[in-house]
Amino acid sequence: MMDQAVAVIAVDGPSGSGKGTICQRIAAVLGFHYLDSGALYRLLALAARRHKVPLEDVEDLSVLAEHMDISFRMNADGDHPEVILEGEDVTAQIRTEEVGAGASKVAAIPAVRTALLSRQRAFATAPGLVADGRDMGTVVFPDARVKIFLTASAEERARRRYNQLIGKGESVSLPGLIEQVRARDERDTRREVSPLIPAEGAEVVDTTGVDIEQVVETVLKIVRNAGISTYRV
Ligand code: C5P
Repeated sequence: MMDQAVAVIAVDGPSGSGKGTICQRIAAVLGFHYLDSGALYRLLALAARRHKVPLEDVEDLSVLAEHMDISFRMNADGDHPEVILEGEDVTAQIRTEEVGAGASKVAAIPAVRTALLSRQRAFATAPGLVADGRDMGTVVFPDARVKIFLTASAEERARRRYNQLIGKGESVSLPGLIEQVRARDERDTRREVSPLIPAEGAEVVDTTGVDIEQVVETVLKIVRNAGISTYRV
């Protein structure tokens, strides 16, 4: 059972909206736990590959989703979370394009989403949780104290991705990425299970042309207005 007294801040939005960075900052300021729900879908895709479970095998995927041995911990410098699968640090491995594509496939399977529900809810422990994803406010934490939908224009999100990939030494085309982002938005907002839409009552925050510090300030203001103290004791 979810502890109703635990404050949950549900943050949803598309990739490239700045969710990950912003949620980690908010969690650090509040001293709250942080759930990167996308990492769970990525972990499942990686675990499936390791255990040779085809991404079409709904039954075995659901069993794996329920039982896979995963954990999160802060790195030694305490500045970013590490993701552990069966005792092994897979933080970098789950970020590859291949695992991302697998994650998006498994995320479209209703039985997988159901199997991951209780695992996600288990992160809501005292003093509170910042939950980052696509359906945090709509499905996983419908009673969240604060719901935020972070977004940015397709061009801006594509530009952020472009800079990331160029930074990794990959050669990519910006117009191609803009097309990809638009196509993914279309798929994500129209899919039947957990479509990517703002939860009822969510505050929509557009990060286009706004720097991270300002977005963090805006989100903290929303959090304070909801009666959650932003001063750690
Ligand atoms: O956010 P991230 O890119 O890590 O998410 C990986 C995949 O998991 C995405 O394709 C996304 O559609 C899916 N996902 C989801 N629901 C969530 C979080 C992620 O369907 N709450």
